[in-house]
Amino acid sequence: MKKLIISIILFSHSVSAQYTDINIVKEVKVKNKGVVVSAHPLASEAGAKILKMGGNAYDAITATQYALAVVYPQAGNIGGGGFLVGAKSNGEKFTIDYRETAPKKASRDMYLDKNGKANTDLSQNGRLAVGIPGSVAGFFATLKYCKLPMNQIIQPAIDLAEKGFAITDQEAAMLNSQKEYFQKHNKSSILFVKETPWKGGDLLVQKELTETLKLIQKLGAKGFYEGKTADLLVAEMKKGNGIITLEDLKNYKVAERKALEFDYKGNNVVTMPLPSSGGVLLAQMLRMAAFENLEKYQQNSTPAVQIMVEAERRAYADRAEYMGDPDFIEDKTSYLISENYLKNRWKSFSFNKATPSSEVGNIIKQPKESTETTHISVIDKDGNAASVTTTLNGYYGSKVLVTGAGFFLNNEMDDFSVKPGVPNMFGAVGGEANAIQPNKRMLSSMTPTIILKNGKPYMVVGTPGGTTIPTSVYQSIVDVVDFKLNANISVNAPKFHHQWLPETVSVENNFPEATISELKAKNYVIEKIKQIGKTEMIVIDDNGTIHAVADGRGDDSVAVE
Ligand code: GLY
Repeated sequence: MKKLIISIILFSHSVSAQYTDINIVKEVKVKNKGVVVSAHPLASEAGAKILKMGGNAYDAITATQYALAVVYPQAGNIGGGGFLVGAKSNGEKFTIDYRETAPKKASRDMYLDKNGKANTDLSQNGRLAVGIPGSVAGFFATLKYCKLPMNQIIQPAIDLAEKGFAITDQEAAMLNSQKEYFQKHNKSSILFVKETPWKGGDLLVQKELTETLKLIQKLGAKGFYEGKTADLLVAEMKKGNGIITLEDLKNYKVAERKALEFDYKGNNVVTMPLPSSGGVLLAQMLRMAAFENLEKYQQNSTPAVQIMVEAERRAYADRAEYMGDPDFIEDKTSYLISENYLKNRWKSFSFNKATPSSEVGNIIKQPKESTETTHISVIDKDGNAASVTTTLNGYYGSKVLVTGAGFFLNNEMDDFSVKPGVPNMFGAVGGEANAIQPNKRMLSSMTPTIILKNGKPYMVVGTPGGTTIPTSVYQSIVDVVDFKLNANISVNAPKFHHQWLPETVSVENNFPEATISELKAKNYVIEKIKQIGKTEMIVIDDNGTIHAVADGRGDDSVAVE
């Protein structure tokens, strides 16, 4: 048996609760043990429990996703979708795409009024915003890489839903902030609405969700896509303007896609291809920034931020123009990440001043809003790595809870371009490539990523944050590979983001003021925002020590096997 060599919990704190103690662990160094990093301590512990039972990284990440659907309902889900990137210790790499799809009755102009004006309230809230959920199909597609049966993998989530758990202060605040929307978008009172405000430590027992999870445990994916759960979901659709049918649910299919792989300074980056724009953007940004030898600079210094922002500007202009579901459009990935194309794209870069966004794409003005999604990074003791980002899109998705089944439905239809040039909830614009069509997958930004060095896992990384996801993952990789920073510094350092439109560069409130002033002097428009992402990062050094860090911005937590 392999021996545990080092296990240091560098920082942790407990949230005292009425019924359960929640132990948040922010950073762990360990050897020859599996680790799970997710947005919630109970979900990470569910994954670690499965590792202890003999499961591998894929068992653990599936158990963690089910558990997040219970303990982190703002983004964890069975009513949404996601992407899994896997790198097995035997060298095999794979992805599973369980992104939602547009219902059969969906159409290109479904969110336009009779004057052709886009109604983004309909694409963002309520029943018409819902794409056909993919998560449960994704969990079952993952089974072929797992060691344990699904009835064991799902059990920790069932226990959490049935016995209940103490909600954290952050979850309480989030639920309280959404009360009005829950009331507006549900026809009857839901479990998540209380007369008195939620507070940290309140017990949350989810009877209806328990029954749904038990149906999945008993019947497999059919427990979700057919029978009682499907009937309840379709009945929910009929309470309003929803269009998902029983046929849509029965016909949902995951897509197993070849991972997008590219070299970055001798490291093999393994990431998600289209229909997530994340991997393509990551390759474009890393490669453009490499033209300026980024490793010469320091994290969040003016030249480093300028190089990275200008790479972001050019890549996101391409996102709007070329990216969408590769089953419906021509996939231009090889061209977009090629050396020649990117060199040409980089010609207009100057250290003297910001490149106007109008010079790298067609401008349409737009606002910008925030979002929620969630990421899990896992490595097991045998060196199998798994990276999943999963989402309902906005916080609690469409805000519609399926009556009788106890889970929130996504509002992923808003990730299509509802009208060319009209921004989605992240301020991202798109064109024909991402127009709505029945059965099509909406373009995503989720960027679950694994980096291999000499064929062995070196980094497992990802984050929520809508369109800020690819830029945060990009910063994480540059921090570790170019700036030689450790995982903790990388995860918790102030982040920045630019996405071509709006012209603004967003920076977290604690971003260095000197850099902000110098960037302003070069014509950059800077906007301070509270938070960018919640990165879950694992870095494995040459000696095999695993350094796992859960983002300090939330309740995110590491659990060890
Ligand atoms: N809904 C966020 C994304 O897929 O990027």
